[in-house]
Amino acid sequence: MRIIKKIDELRPIIKSWKREGLTIGLVPTMGYLHEGHKSLIDRAVKENDRVVVSDFVNPTQFAPNEDFETYPRDLDADAALCEAAGADVIFNPEPDEMYRDALTFVDMNKITKVLCGKTRPIHFSGVCTVVSKLFNIVTPDRAYFGRKDAQQLCVIKKMVEDLNFDIEIVGCPIVRESDGLAKSSRNTYLNPEERKAALCLSRSLEKGKRLIEGGEESVAAVLDVIKTEINKEPLAETDYAEIVDLKDLSPLVKIKKPLLCAIAVYIGKTRLIDNFIME
Ligand code: PAJ
Repeated sequence: MRIIKKIDELRPIIKSWKREGLTIGLVPTMGYLHEGHKSLIDRAVKENDRVVVSDFVNPTQFAPNEDFETYPRDLDADAALCEAAGADVIFNPEPDEMYRDALTFVDMNKITKVLCGKTRPIHFSGVCTVVSKLFNIVTPDRAYFGRKDAQQLCVIKKMVEDLNFDIEIVGCPIVRESDGLAKSSRNTYLNPEERKAALCLSRSLEKGKRLIEGGEESVAAVLDVIKTEINKEPLAETDYAEIVDLKDLSPLVKIKKPLLCAIAVYIGKTRLIDNFIME
């Protein structure tokens, strides 16, 4: 496995793979890889001849008051995980290599303005821009994204459709710790007390899901149960809890599938997200 930091170094490798008729899978990440990322890489390795994992903490998707500087980084550990999983290349550029004096950005309306987009107005423009760039650099056949970031997956699918990228987007299930907490690089911010408190995310979603499975039809009633469960936890503060149409992320009043129930919760200073989907 090779660690590549320059676009001009990666391109000839991609070209030689294409000449050989090999298929390419791309797993975009911001590094500090865990089992959630590994599940994407495993799937990409299974489904493609060659796999590129991008490992890039993308500055354009962080607002000035967010955690770009402190976001955890550990390239050696990432390289070990990727190598063991059977990836062929880690693409790990510096911000300057990706952006230099760039003036062009990819933006999207509507579905980027709801859920996480309400409190993170520039976030999805940064995500769309960097993912477009990665798509143009790596030109993969398939790209792998986790349902942990359900809105991101929805946004990327829409971007691929709108901008005619000839790439199959593969959505992969959420990987959790044994006690239910969704794996996240940001979980490392939690102290032991906050780590326990963070269980209110998966616990509240479980309760909401059970209610729907039991026949509850009112979105407000389900959200009430979810928010009440989160509020029981003194260290937790809800950013949002919403149930939306999975296809266009528009709000629902009555439970109607396919739906996405998504929450964002501050545990102390750390903002965590989780969700469930009902198809
Ligand atoms: P990052 O947070 O590193 O996540 C990379 C990919 O791993 C995303 O598709 C995310 O949904 C997936 N992932 C993270 N935790 C997961 C879990 N517990 N189970 C399943 N999948 C999980 O998402 C980003 O980076 C960035 O926004 C990126 C797309 C790389 C653009 O910069």
